[in-house]
Amino acid sequence: MTRHFLKDDDLTPAEQSELLRLAADMKDDRHGFDSLNHQGRLRSVAVVFEKPSTRTRMSFQIGIAELGGHPVLLDAQSSQLGRGESIADTARVLSRYVDAIVIRTFGDDRIAELAEHATVPVVNALTDGWHPCQLLADLQTIAEHRKESLHTLRGTDIAFVGDAAFNMGNSTVIACSMAGMHVRIGAPAGYQPAREVLERAAEINAETGGSVTVTDDPVKAVTGADVVSTDVWASMGVENREHRITDLTAYRLDAELLGHAAEDAIVLHCLPAHRGEEITDDVIDGPQSRVFDQAENRLHAQKALLAWMIGGGHR
Ligand code: CP
Repeated sequence: MTRHFLKDDDLTPAEQSELLRLAADMKDDRHGFDSLNHQGRLRSVAVVFEKPSTRTRMSFQIGIAELGGHPVLLDAQSSQLGRGESIADTARVLSRYVDAIVIRTFGDDRIAELAEHATVPVVNALTDGWHPCQLLADLQTIAEHRKESLHTLRGTDIAFVGDAAFNMGNSTVIACSMAGMHVRIGAPAGYQPAREVLERAAEINAETGGSVTVTDDPVKAVTGADVVSTDVWASMGVENREHRITDLTAYRLDAELLGHAAEDAIVLHCLPAHRGEEITDDVIDGPQSRVFDQAENRLHAQKALLAWMIGGGHR
């Protein structure tokens, strides 16, 4: 059966850990892997965007090329997808050409339909519900900071403040639970993860020893945390921007809020940031920020993912 990576727990915790180790190896030896052209067998990967992107677009294209593979970019606006060709027919056709399909789209029903009709692996490059590739990069960044074995992600406290009801909040809850971390969500009512996400996290945490707590008190969420993460307050396609700013102002990651975290805590933001809104300049540009390491790690983590999913050998 074809395996897809549509959400974080499409990997097992052991597979997540294995993949992060490979990502670290690939970062240490950036040009030493030919996994997508192993023994002359060229892999092509379709990279499809129905929403804007800078990091994901660049890191997938460059990463596939660095592994010896062939990235093929497809934009909704310049393809028949933008003129209403069905996602099912698109999946059937692309599967005849490429070895994997990476897609950024809107609803999770859309990527699920693509995966149902594709005969090659499908990778989620961001949907409304999940951003699992981002979380692989986030975990790699946290592991680098801990400077120990990837297994020591286990027990690390991460606070996520702001809008936790969308893709980044959901993926943080699930991916960090898989790594055995303790997740503290600081978000007001209406911006907290859905019950089914928290129930799934509880199942995972029974196996990994992690935990998730949810509070509407941002200081309580951040106090003593090893990692503090946030995301924009109005993600792509989300309406009511002014209303959301009013609701979330108390959750802005500024120096005062960060001051409650552990002394050596690091700051993550998946970018792009609305500086001055969910995060202040002094924090994102400050000594505790790891946001540009985090952005770089998209490259290494996604190379590891594709090598693991469709690659041959690892060198
Ligand atoms: N973090 C992230 O997905 O960035 P882009 O939207 O630029 O791809």
